[in-house]
Amino acid sequence: MRFPTEPGLFGSGGSTGRPGSVFGGQANRSEHTLYDCEVDGDIPDDLDGAFYRVGPDPQYPKPKGLEHDIAFDGEGHASMFRIQNSHVDYLSRWVKNERWQRQHKARKSLYGVYRNPYTDDPSVRGKFRGTQNTQVWYHNGRILAMKEDTLPAALDPHTLETLDGNYKFDGKLKSQTFTAHPKNDSQTGNLLAFGYEATGLGTTDISVFEIDKKGKTIWQAMVKAPYCSEIHDYAITEKHIIFLVYPLAYLGEELMKKGGVHWGWDSTRDTYLGVMRRGGDGKDIQWLKGPQTMCTHTMGCWTDGDMVYVDMDGGDANQFPFFPSPNPNDRFDPVKATGRVRRFSMDASKKTVRPFDMKVMYGQYSGGLARQDDRYHTVPYRYGFMIGGGPGGGGWLRFDHQTGKVNTFNPGPDSSLSEMCFVPRRKGAPEGDGYLVGICSRAKENGRSDLLIVDAQHMEDGAVATIKLPYRAAPQVHGFWVPGDQLPPVKA
Ligand SMILES: [Fe+2]
Repeated sequence: MRFPTEPGLFGSGGSTGRPGSVFGGQANRSEHTLYDCEVDGDIPDDLDGAFYRVGPDPQYPKPKGLEHDIAFDGEGHASMFRIQNSHVDYLSRWVKNERWQRQHKARKSLYGVYRNPYTDDPSVRGKFRGTQNTQVWYHNGRILAMKEDTLPAALDPHTLETLDGNYKFDGKLKSQTFTAHPKNDSQTGNLLAFGYEATGLGTTDISVFEIDKKGKTIWQAMVKAPYCSEIHDYAITEKHIIFLVYPLAYLGEELMKKGGVHWGWDSTRDTYLGVMRRGGDGKDIQWLKGPQTMCTHTMGCWTDGDMVYVDMDGGDANQFPFFPSPNPNDRFDPVKATGRVRRFSMDASKKTVRPFDMKVMYGQYSGGLARQDDRYHTVPYRYGFMIGGGPGGGGWLRFDHQTGKVNTFNPGPDSSLSEMCFVPRRKGAPEGDGYLVGICSRAKENGRSDLLIVDAQHMEDGAVATIKLPYRAAPQVHGFWVPGDQLPPVKA
């Protein structure tokens, strides 16, 4: 088998790749086990937990005529850094769902292009086609590997073995899909999530639900979006649920049947925030129009009386140039695409039609992949994180919403960072007191990877520890930290 060499095609460059491009720009394809990694610096003695990651990794090149497929369609490859007693073990395994198994057996790609089942090989028509390559989460003793167009895969938290490639929880969910960006309830630890295109391809149904710590569905509702658009992330406070609908829209079945792309930026469509009460039947949902934007990730959110606030990273227009536009005037604009922290606010009490408000914050800083201290989902928060750049250079950014101060961790020359994850210094540590962990890719070493541990309160001091891999880590979109005391015991 051979990947194309021409840039911009699916899996371009194969294993040699082009360091620095999307997800490393190469096919990784190799599962690794590395016991006791080399470490520079000092891993904090009491740091105990596992950093999980997942990203798209092309299992096979696409067949002739479908080579233009986008990197988002790579098969999920999960990895884990287990940190305990100042030692680190690294593991990476494919998400071995039905799609992976079928292609493995056939030794070729059988599934067509990104989220277009009409392009699949006849032998797999109507079969499970998920990639589960976007984010990992820990729930009820399992690692969930997720992508927003199917249900998750459940992986063993110690071995990353795929336990169930199409995990249905208690079987009660009415949704066919599950977001890559669920949240944790700060009080109960329940899993809060939603699925859009919940009843099938191109549908406007959004299913929203809450699952308890044992995997039982305890609440769900179905609501209608104004149109079918990419709802990559959402926000859920103690009282409200908020969806952002922006003009990256489903372009219709006819186009899909011709082999087209799932999404296109259509600026003639409105931007909406939908706000509904948590725990109800969803009939109260209100769709408020506002300024055009495309925001992919929620940094934090909260309800204050009747006011609802949501912070996201995003731009004024399409941020994904690889999705075409149906309108000739909607050419990709890199200035409008630049992501900044945006604060949405809305009054959930009013019953009259009114717009939502959107304010750009920290205007000198741009970037994306916003995160927070994950213990503060649903409640007021102080610290947000993002990968990007500003007056302090490029790197991981920490925003202090109380003081307005921004701190930067810069990885140095010829180095590029993946999204980081915040790790509390110890159980019960105050918000923001802890570490940032994430991958740094070294361009002059063919993209070799280090895992960095940075003190979140002393970011300018550099990494406290560098965990060195002898190769590129498996690809990553997002990552998730699980404290050691939450992991199940290792089976003998
Ligand atoms: Fe995401």
